[in-house]
Amino acid sequence: MRIAIIGFGAVGQGLARVLADTGFTVTAVADSRSACINKDGLDLPEVLARKEESGLCGSAGIGIADILSSGAFDILVEVSPTNAETGEPALSTIRSALAMGKHVVTSNKGPIACAYHELKALADINGVMLGYEATVAGAVPIVSGLRHGLAGNTVRSLHGILNGTCNYILTRMRDEGLTYPQALQEARDLGYAEADPTYDVKGIDAAIKLVILANTLLGMDIRLSDVDITGIDSITLEALSLAESEGATIRLIGEILPERNQVRVSPRVIPLDHPLVVDGTLNAISVCCDLAGPVTFIGKGAGPYPTASAILADLNFIRDSYDRGA
Ligand code: HSE
Repeated sequence: MRIAIIGFGAVGQGLARVLADTGFTVTAVADSRSACINKDGLDLPEVLARKEESGLCGSAGIGIADILSSGAFDILVEVSPTNAETGEPALSTIRSALAMGKHVVTSNKGPIACAYHELKALADINGVMLGYEATVAGAVPIVSGLRHGLAGNTVRSLHGILNGTCNYILTRMRDEGLTYPQALQEARDLGYAEADPTYDVKGIDAAIKLVILANTLLGMDIRLSDVDITGIDSITLEALSLAESEGATIRLIGEILPERNQVRVSPRVIPLDHPLVVDGTLNAISVCCDLAGPVTFIGKGAGPYPTASAILADLNFIRDSYDRGA
């Protein structure tokens, strides 16, 4: 199947690297200032080298509108930075692709948090699929885990570490004594943080992920403004040391209590032997289900390759479904 990649930052470039040898053909790539299209398939090493050298993936004269009007793709992969307020410009791009009868796979949280039900209805009307596994918890298959693996269960509560950048910062501060700005800079350099890292450290990114899980899998209907949010930007080394001296640590925890319609993100002091105490960019999500009881998912929540893994899972699911004539 032919793929158009919209967004060519850390995630888009990571995806381009892993798509070689998967059988998918990338026919178009766009970044915020340029694009390239080849209906027979782009030379991805060449596109990656051009991006590295010039900062542009293609020609400045063309853009997303040209890719859409070319129609030279079966799946649009939208991996541009998240806009939490409106979901734009990605939301409009995704709407257009679905309306054209193209499948969409995205790691972009904005459109899914702002307009999932509208987009899913549009996908259904046009007989195509909308994959968003990569929007929540990176490589952790939490969307398919809740939708398929735990189908038939009612989720009574969800608690989780949903932001790899914050977890990385807290881990590096505790283990290496780095200051908060030093640890944040490392997370940015390694491609874990959002384009606007205040989304990470102020808890907004984790809150958007809770909105996605709540609205698309837990039968709720909430907005970002309904989430009670506190970030980690005022956590000090002293606070971490104090927690440590009591056999505990500090983690940014997201919580959904569907029956109380309660959703919040806040730093919490938790015992070191608690299942949610994971290190580095790991995410951990514990759900309490009526039938299955407690189930915990753990895996890498940020970074180009963990995110590419989730995107590739959606791409393969679509290809397998359509090979079977779904
Ligand atoms: N900035 C996000 C994080 C990327 O650190 O978790 C994955 O959504």
